[in-house]
Amino acid sequence: MFSKRFYSSSSKMISQIKNQNLIKTKGFINGQWVSSSSNESFVVTNPALVPKNEAVIETVQSMTEDDYNKAIDYAYDSFEKFKKTTGRYRSGLLLRLYELMIENQEDLAKLCVLENGKPYADALGEVKYAASFFQWFSEEAPRINGDIIPSANPQNRILVLKQPIGVCGILTPWNFPLAMITRKVGAAIATGCTTVIKPASETPLSALAIAYLAQEAGFPEGTINVLPCKSSSMAGKLICEHPKIKKVSFTGSTGVGSILMKQSSSTLKKLSMELGGNAPFIVFDDVKDIDKAVQGAIASKFRSSGQTCVCANRLFIHESIYDDFKDKLISKLKETVVLGDGLKEGVTYGPVINERSMKKVREHIEDATGKGAKILFGGNKREDLGANFHDLTVLGDVTTEMQIFNDETFGPVAPLIKFKSDDEVIKMANDTQFGLAGYFYATDVSRVFKVAEAINVGMLGINTGAITEAALPFGGIGESGFGREGSKFGVDDYLIIKSCVLGSVDV
Ligand code: SIN
Repeated sequence: MFSKRFYSSSSKMISQIKNQNLIKTKGFINGQWVSSSSNESFVVTNPALVPKNEAVIETVQSMTEDDYNKAIDYAYDSFEKFKKTTGRYRSGLLLRLYELMIENQEDLAKLCVLENGKPYADALGEVKYAASFFQWFSEEAPRINGDIIPSANPQNRILVLKQPIGVCGILTPWNFPLAMITRKVGAAIATGCTTVIKPASETPLSALAIAYLAQEAGFPEGTINVLPCKSSSMAGKLICEHPKIKKVSFTGSTGVGSILMKQSSSTLKKLSMELGGNAPFIVFDDVKDIDKAVQGAIASKFRSSGQTCVCANRLFIHESIYDDFKDKLISKLKETVVLGDGLKEGVTYGPVINERSMKKVREHIEDATGKGAKILFGGNKREDLGANFHDLTVLGDVTTEMQIFNDETFGPVAPLIKFKSDDEVIKMANDTQFGLAGYFYATDVSRVFKVAEAINVGMLGINTGAITEAALPFGGIGESGFGREGSKFGVDDYLIIKSCVLGSVDV
């Protein structure tokens, strides 16, 4: 992959990316690469190298309110033309963008490792996952149909038109710097909407690389605008309050989602909110294969070092198999965990994104151990590797009073909780306001249906810890948000339904 001499600094590393055109540090507005109107900038760092000087990857322009207002105006004008294009044409654009992402997959993956910290193999997986949304929505674009409904009046026909909603504000997180953009933008473009994207300030380079590839794919000016910005609160408020933006799609925390909802209320925007979770992962006593459940738990809990919204947050294990599950989990982790810089050969887990994430991980461990939980694996900050590294950690004897039971860790800590009966575990699993994902392992068909119907979440993995793909309707319930991304339902959030009553039909 990379020879050791390239690890010395992030900026040197970036020079090893083959297609240097992918490295953009300006905003992308109306098909042009533009500097910030205030010339302000911010630094993007490699979380694996913080706090060393060589953590700095690039300095990126920070777009201002003026820049955002201009981009929205351009996207608005562009929408007037783009909404009239055919689904087949938009399908071609998306397919070309998919192909370009695949052609550049290794470079995109390296960029993603540099700014996010995930291991190279995971980043490569993310590039393919991200690109698959463009492929998926290229297939949806020509198939967005309206309807004809018979009326109660024999001389009327009701025609249902599905039309693009308009300019969409897209606000994305750092944990999937590519896929959270493509899942939203793919659907928006398929329907004929135009977009103004505010990428996470931790990971703007991946977003700008997608903008460059969209330009190469021939996307019309103003259809995709990407505005890096150090102030997420300024950009979020402006997008949510702007009258020309008709829809906002946000992935991030429930706290921020609720602020954005309030800000969007003055213009009654259509919203999609993909927010926090507190996923239960349950292993029943009739689990067919404990090793597979362990594998699923590791995949679900520790993917991206526990920094995904669908990560298992609470692992409930039936008391009769608790010790067996715990021993197998720990021995698997001992075999497979190699913490480090994601560009180093053999590394399987990277750092957490920043100091704030580390603080939460520490708080959850200290609160739990203070209340009687036992550290079964890991448990320590790994300053020997860098400021953002923490051991993958397993806690035993976790109870419902602990912070980790009630609050999403968004980090590499797996709390194990014993249970006795189905009803008890269903009650505990549902003891949260969140409802994004959930997982369980069981064999008995009646139990499978009982539990699937009882768990309050938007997405369930049954006998699997890996659920996401472009075909999955992705989204939550309760304080995990609303709206569905990906899948055949993904375009609905970007469409309006217009009902036309055709009268005087004389047949
Ligand atoms: C997320 O963490 O929000 C997305 C996870 C996924 O798409 O698999």
